[in-house]
Amino acid sequence: MIYPIVKFPDPILQRPSTPVTEFNDELRKLVADMFESMYAAQGIGLAAPQIGIAKRLTVIDLSNQKEPKDKIVLINPEITLREGKQFEEEGCLSLPEIREKVRRSARVMVKAQDEFGNWKEHEGTELLARAFQHEIDHLDGVLFIFRISALKRDLILRRIRKMQRAGEW
Ligand code: NI
Repeated sequence: MIYPIVKFPDPILQRPSTPVTEFNDELRKLVADMFESMYAAQGIGLAAPQIGIAKRLTVIDLSNQKEPKDKIVLINPEITLREGKQFEEEGCLSLPEIREKVRRSARVMVKAQDEFGNWKEHEGTELLARAFQHEIDHLDGVLFIFRISALKRDLILRRIRKMQRAGEW
């Protein structure tokens, strides 16, 4: 099932999500639906609040379905190590057409459960490190436009309001 993507300023995107406690078939169906919804929206990462479900669950696939080993499920994730810095452009399915450079750690280690409840460690550098940080931020109710300067954010918020008025958002 393909879920519609929730867009900013929906309040679910700005609230912390709650931990996943049940690792059952229903959860595994949700994970499969999240991959399907992400691919349909041409994204490389999707967090559950972006489909209106306030759970600590996110899926990532930088290869966009080309490499099965690139499919990553992060449930109840935590960043356990941060190293270095990077400053690259990000976008978000909940903020279509908005792109801005965001300061992130260059390398992160993430501890997370999979859809069966098993804990795994994931290492990310470059784009994958950005995806981990961006998606885990979603679970804390933080969008990337709140990790840039207030000046740049105000310009973006103004642009969004203009698009809303024009019926383009
Ligand atoms: Ni996003």
